[in-house]
Amino acid sequence: MRTDLPVLAMLVLCWLMLTVAAWAHLATGLVLAVVIGVHLRTRWPQVRALTRGTGRSMSVRRLVRRAAHRLLLAAAAAMIASGLARWAGVPAQDAWHGTSSYTLLGVVTVHLLLVRRRLWIRLRGRQARNENPGNRTS
Ligand code: HEM
Ligand code: HEM
Repeated sequence: MRTDLPVLAMLVLCWLMLTVAAWAHLATGLVLAVVIGVHLRTRWPQVRALTRGTGRSMSVRRLVRRAAHRLLLAAAAAMIASGLARWAGVPAQDAWHGTSSYTLLGVVTVHLLLVRRRLWIRLRGRQARNENPGNRTS
């Protein structure tokens, strides 16, 4: 399932809803948590690989990429867990939720740079299918 653009749209919407109402932020936050779950589930082998050790030597480039994606997973988990805790009535004093959420927004920017080629290929593929609806080969 193509979740790239829905994740991006929900991240922006959820952030914007902060200025509208707490319930709107929470509602978009819950939808965001679900689309992130689907985004990860549909590329489970890559996610599993990020949680395992390496066992063989890796280039610096791959190590940086791996570290950024591990941080992305940790920030997403922290944002969702702390958001649910805020919903359950935990006070905002420690700023866990705000800190983890804004960290996630920062690391997502790095993520977009890292996956830009694959993202571009997907978007181009979608555009081509829309222009030639009879030519659905994948
Ligand atoms: C909370 C937000 C997000 C999380 C936690 C997340 C997580 C991940 C992870 C763990 C991977 C596999 C990385 C790898 O190849 O080792 C991945 C791949 C990818 N992500 Fe995300 N992502 C997020 C947001 C986004 C957004 C906003 C976009 C685009 C608008 C996006 C587009 C992609 C693309 C194109 C891939 C590569 C797809 C493939 O060929 O498998 N992601 N993401
Ligand atoms: C783009 C991602 C997000 C950003 C930038 C963000 C940011 C924030 C900030 C700055 C606050 C106010 C400080 C605080 O109360 O801790 C807040 C409140 C809150 N957030 Fe998020 N958040 C995001 C995603 C989420 C998600 C995914 C959930 C739910 C799983 C969630 C649930 C909540 C709740 C329940 C509150 C308290 C609202 C209130 O009672 O005023 N947020 N968020």
